[in-house]
Amino acid sequence: AAGDAVELKSVSWKHGGLFGTYDRAAAQRGLQVYREVCAGCHGLGLVAFRTLADLGFSEEEIKALAAESEFVDGPDGDGEMFERPGKPSDKFPSPFPNEQAARASNGGAYPPDLSLITKARAHGDDYLYSLLTGYTDVPADFTLAEGMNYNAYFAGHQIAMPSPLSDDAVEYADGTPATVDQMAKDVTVFLAWAAEPKLEQRKSVGLKVILFLLILAAVFYAVKRKVWSDLH
Ligand code: HEM
Repeated sequence: AAGDAVELKSVSWKHGGLFGTYDRAAAQRGLQVYREVCAGCHGLGLVAFRTLADLGFSEEEIKALAAESEFVDGPDGDGEMFERPGKPSDKFPSPFPNEQAARASNGGAYPPDLSLITKARAHGDDYLYSLLTGYTDVPADFTLAEGMNYNAYFAGHQIAMPSPLSDDAVEYADGTPATVDQMAKDVTVFLAWAAEPKLEQRKSVGLKVILFLLILAAVFYAVKRKVWSDLH
């Protein structure tokens, strides 16, 4: 029935599992989707431009990308605030000055900052992908409120965000066809990276720790056998 929880679409993400690493090409495409589509409504305020180096962007590319946004800075020597182009140490700018302004532009709904969105929802990666590909026709028995959109995966199925993706909404620099499915996957990889940029280090340290403990357990077992060997 309407409002029931729906099983999420399940994607086998390259960054999932014990040995997972981020698909850099997908994350780079996802950055493009975020910038050209999502950034009009959603901030990414915890991510600094310079961290894009992790995804394989060069210092020059990062400088150029940061400089495309304007930031208010100051006060200068005369006590005046001024605008300047972004630097690699700046974080992604928010599209709205505050929550009230964001709500005013979105029919009262608040587009959340996406920095941690894949962690803020259960099974966040699958959820985000499902949400972005989950806009369907309104079922006959469902009454949709004015200005709302039907989404199979959003809690309650009524979401203020209109379907943000449509085929060819972006033109990928690497020539990948920009289907809704592809863009949804790519922006999910990018936002998963944004929420957990140290995932790869976490997994690799975890594996080393387990390996170390296994070896240590074997050594302790051998020592125990030796120490107690005269008690047969
Ligand atoms: C909500 C992602 C584009 C407006 C959300 C949520 C996510 C999201 C994850 C939260 C859903 C939840 O609470 O579980 C994205 C992504 C986009 C995108 C990845 C780009 C591909 C846009 C655009 C707009 C927009 C372009 C404005 C035209 C909103 C609004 C909400 C929302 C108003 C709040 C919905 C509600 O609470 O009913 N978005 N979004 N989003 N988004 Fe987007």
